[in-house]
This record gives sequence, C-alpha cells and structure tokens, in this order.
Amino acid sequence: MIDANMLSKALEHLIPATQFYYFETIDSTNLFLKTKTEIKENTLSCCIADEQTAGRGRFGKMWLSPKGVNIYCSIGTSLPSARQNVSGISLALSLSVLRAIKIYIPKQTLFVKWPNDILCEHKKLCGILIERYGNQLIIGIGINVNNRFDERYLQPEKPCGSIYELTGKLTNRNELLIDLIDRISQDLTRFWKLGLSDFMTEWEAVDYLAGKKIKMSIDKKEVVGFSRGITSEGQLKFEDSQGKMHLLISGNASLLSFL
Ligand code: BTN
Repeated sequence: MIDANMLSKALEHLIPATQFYYFETIDSTNLFLKTKTEIKENTLSCCIADEQTAGRGRFGKMWLSPKGVNIYCSIGTSLPSARQNVSGISLALSLSVLRAIKIYIPKQTLFVKWPNDILCEHKKLCGILIERYGNQLIIGIGINVNNRFDERYLQPEKPCGSIYELTGKLTNRNELLIDLIDRISQDLTRFWKLGLSDFMTEWEAVDYLAGKKIKMSIDKKEVVGFSRGITSEGQLKFEDSQGKMHLLISGNASLLSFL
C-alpha cells in the first residue's frame, strides 16, 4: 500500500518546500502537474498515484499503469534562470532512477538504454517522460515494481519486466519512492550546476547500447549502424554502415546484435 501520509512527512523532512499530491486513481500524474498546479520557483512539486487510467509514454504511447503494484510519480520543477538548456537532463536523471532501483536488484546488472529506459536482462523496468512547458519541467517516472506481466500482452520485440519478476520479492513502494525522489532532487541540483558532463563516467559504465549494432530511424528511414556512446549534451553518437557519424537528439534504438 502507498502510505501518502508517511510519504508526505518524509518528503517534507528531506526536501523542504515540496508540494505533495497523492491520488488513488488519476488519468496521468504528468498531466495533473501540468494542468492543475503552479510549479513555483525553488520548490519541487511531486505527484504520486496508485493507478493511472491514461498513463503517458514517450512518442504518444500509453504507459500501462495497473493499480496497487507499481510506481507512477511525476516531479515538477522550474528551470533556474541561469540554465535554459536542459539537453541531457533525462539521461542524468535515468542514472538517479537506476541507482534507486539497484538497491532492490543487487545481484543483476542494470543498464540504461539511451535516452532513458532502465533495463535488466534485456527487459524494460522503467520509463521516463520529461515534458517541458516554457520554464517548467515535468519529470514523469514509471517503474514496474510488483506487477507480473501477462504473457498474452507482451510484445516480444519490446520485452518488459518488473523488480518482482526479477527477484521474486515484493518491494516496499514507499521506501523506494522516498529514496527515488531524494536522489532526483539531489541530481537535479548537480545537473543544474555541472551539466551532463558530470554524469558521463557513470553513464559509460551502464550504457546498454555502447558499441552495439542497432537500427535507428533517421529522416523517417531505418538506418543500421553502431552506437558509439553519447555527447556531453546527451546526443547519441550513431555511426552508420558507411562510417558517417550522426548525432541524434531523440529516437528509439532497436538492438540488432547482443555482441
Ligand atoms: C516511456 O515511454 O518509456 C516513458 C513512460 C513514463 C511513464 C510515467 S508514469 C508517471 C508519469 N505519468 C505519466 O503519464 N507518464 C509518466
């Protein structure tokens, strides 16, 4: 069970000036922060739900959000006046999420698939959707915690998994949420000060695509090539089969070889 009272108190203690919202059911926590709140300067707004009826994923996809099992959390913040460029922020924050999840999956290796999916044993455990509205940033995090995926609905080309499926243990979502939000808050401050450059070594250690043969869509064409890491702005360095390097800002990479 999510204990909203306990969460609100713990967050107030850890991150003063946090606005906290909890819903048993909501359409989307990202949408709530966008449409129903005013994100004030120097504060974090945090919306958590036990179920989403219209969870939003990247590229307009939906994010499956069943009740009582997973984490659906959005954090709203406003950009510091000195930092209008947020490129790379989703990569930096995916590392915060990875570190928070890692505590519950100590035996397996976790990876980040550019730009911000967390994977374990080639299965997606978590997705991050960052939306910017002028000066406001909404960081939406969905983590598959205690659910079991119904085999009938799994798409073999997009394997998903949960912490429970990997470990056989149920995770206390309240503890994970507190740790997660604390890490995000600290890494936001670090990112505003130092940018993605400060996260590069950590990224390289968990880069799922590094050196792999992948397929990308460039100008609506499918191009095969190799992933060659990222730039300090968070672009993917993609070398096509002619040896030409492309710097990609966004996209969806499909792995063509595990070698
Ligand atoms: C992805 O497509 O990988 C990103 C998924 C992000 C889902 C989270 S769940 C909490 C927040 N609210 C939403 O509607 N979406 C994000």
